[in-house]
Amino acid sequence: MSALLEIRQVSKDFSGLQVLTDVNLAVEEGERHAVIGPNGAGKSTLFNVITGKYRVSEGEIVFKGTDITNWPPHRVSRMGLARSFQVTNIFPNMTVYENIRNVVVSKKGRRLNLIAPLAGMEDVDRETRELISSIGLEASVDTPAGELAYGHQRALEIGLAMAMDPDLILLDEPTAGMTSEETRDAVKLIERVTAGKTLVIIEHDMDVVFSIADRISVLYYGKILETGTPEEIRESREVKKAYLGSKK
Ligand SMILES: Nc1ncnc2c1ncn2[C@@H]1O[C@H](COP(=O)(O)OP(=O)(O)O)[C@@H](O)[C@H]1O
Ligand SMILES: [Mg+2]
Repeated sequence: MSALLEIRQVSKDFSGLQVLTDVNLAVEEGERHAVIGPNGAGKSTLFNVITGKYRVSEGEIVFKGTDITNWPPHRVSRMGLARSFQVTNIFPNMTVYENIRNVVVSKKGRRLNLIAPLAGMEDVDRETRELISSIGLEASVDTPAGELAYGHQRALEIGLAMAMDPDLILLDEPTAGMTSEETRDAVKLIERVTAGKTLVIIEHDMDVVFSIADRISVLYYGKILETGTPEEIRESREVKKAYLGSKK
């Protein structure tokens, strides 16, 4: 059985600056996979080549058995691969409801226009409200997204990604900039909304990583140092030496 996502021998350089080198990574269906590594290791670049934002220099990316290497982002996303958007991709003047509804509508897309548009709108409304309650923003349905507290904006980003009903979701530092209380809530939210989904999460907070991940890959200067269970990574001499130990 092949993995849901396979990254094979992927390298990426930006005009000579080698950022990823021969990266191999397999993400199994249903797995929660964390990618850790110091700043500048190439973690976000890895997401950017998976989602088609950047082209790979070498190697292949296979998703659901299809080679999606260098596909444009909209095609990758339509295949069922979503990533959390940055705060700037939220429409700040639109309410929480409108932001989520946009994605729900665009996902249903054509079907809505062609068949029973009114019945379709009821579905859209129900789905939108379910998503909003899953991210804990019921009380803010009619709040313009730009007025939400920071932690709630990040929750909305996750909601927007989930609204695509993806088979694989990529989260890039979803707890960045949060207080420890917001982080705790965010972890609960991530676990709740991604239950049964396949998740790859880039995360700097080791408590979050060790509580969420089934497996962890350590990226260090563009190379995968090791992939293993949280226990294996915690005990890895090489990882400790290169990364965990050097944080102190
Ligand atoms: N579009 C780009 N053009 C040139 N260099 C880039 C670009 N994106 C990222 N880099 C470089 O790639 C390296 C890895 O960056 P990044 O993937 O953002 O690391 P991380 O997310 O692990 O902190 C950094 O040296 C960064 O400056
Ligand atoms: Mg990054």
